[in-house]
Amino acid sequence: MSYIFSRRSNAGEIEPNELSRVRARRHGFGLPIKDLSNTNPTKVGLDWKDHDLISLATKDNVTYDPEPRGLYRAREAISDHFALYKRNMHPDNYFLCASTSEAYSWLFKLLCDPGDAVLVPKPGYPLFQHLAELDSVQVLAYRLEYAHPSGWYVNLDELSSVLAADREKRIKAIVIINPNNPTGSYIRKTERTTIIGLCEKYGLALIADEVFFDFPIDDNIERKTFVGEDRVLTFVLDGLSKRMGLPQLKLAWITLSGPNQEVSRAKKRLDLIADTFLSVSTPIMNALPFLFEHETAFLCKSLSRIRENYASYREILTGGTSPHRVLCCQGGWTALIESPSFFEEDRIAQRLLEEKGIFAQPGFFFDIDNGVHFAFSLIIPSISAFRWCTEYRHFFEALENS
Ligand SMILES: Cc1ncc(COP(=O)(O)O)c(C=O)c1O
Repeated sequence: MSYIFSRRSNAGEIEPNELSRVRARRHGFGLPIKDLSNTNPTKVGLDWKDHDLISLATKDNVTYDPEPRGLYRAREAISDHFALYKRNMHPDNYFLCASTSEAYSWLFKLLCDPGDAVLVPKPGYPLFQHLAELDSVQVLAYRLEYAHPSGWYVNLDELSSVLAADREKRIKAIVIINPNNPTGSYIRKTERTTIIGLCEKYGLALIADEVFFDFPIDDNIERKTFVGEDRVLTFVLDGLSKRMGLPQLKLAWITLSGPNQEVSRAKKRLDLIADTFLSVSTPIMNALPFLFEHETAFLCKSLSRIRENYASYREILTGGTSPHRVLCCQGGWTALIESPSFFEEDRIAQRLLEEKGIFAQPGFFFDIDNGVHFAFSLIIPSISAFRWCTEYRHFFEALENS
């Protein structure tokens, strides 16, 4: 029997690429994989201990009080917690959901009809395409350009022209990732002003993904949250997945702000969407106050690792006559490495894996379409970061001499 499937689920039938096949083969043979791109916080020794999470089983969990935005006491816990960071928002301005990926999906439902579009940064992380496609939304890119050593800049001219060219007004929102994955760049002051101005001019919503906001590469990095932005309808996304390294607990939130009238209309509609799914579990909402007590410990541990690994990558790969560059990273969990183009990026990635057992995500995964780039995780254990990065350098030295 043949079935008729939706076009938006087509990506499910795409065959794995050669790099994934090589990785699966290695795995099948039981060969080790040195995963230089691993950003799963539960697999890098940053994880919580079982006994830390035992309090998830509390007696408050036997009753079910469905609230579209999530239990009030949980939203209050988030509101109180972020007041400590001076990101004051009323509990009614939070919408709890299972993940930021789900938050995107809800926002696409709120803002876009099928065929409408959202603007996303390029390079950016690859999940977007699928998230948008599954909601029948198009993804249009605006570019981030790199200037060494000052870092990444939003191509504001291009952003403005894409919007000016949108005669049918299909673009409904600008997505910014603050800081972006994989470039690690925060939105600069001038960029912020222009982007908000464009949202005002074209009547667009702003979606700011700030899951990596509190992981700056050093304390002096200039960064400003979009929480509480009141000039345009603004949705800021965050959650436990990154800020506490707990993606398996499935709790994220959307913080809503903007002009009063737009905010109250958006809330009503978002209430309907959230009420339709009610996707957050009661035990995890009840555990929030306890989890927040441990946040500082997790942030400190992960920040010191991120900073140490970034320094190692720079020490190993730059200086002297090194053909590599560690691109400027201001925050987040990933550093981008630019390496010489002895042959195509994809082929280099395969050979690295086959010959050295090193897996590193190539730049094309993130829509980097020039040169040879690899994304190195900043959260892997520091000893692995040091050793594997050194092996990476040796691999290129051997190529150069062959
Ligand atoms: C910038 C960014 N936002 C969101 C996510 C997804 O987070 P969540 O686990 O909350 O869906 C990722 C995943 O890597 C990410 O890189």
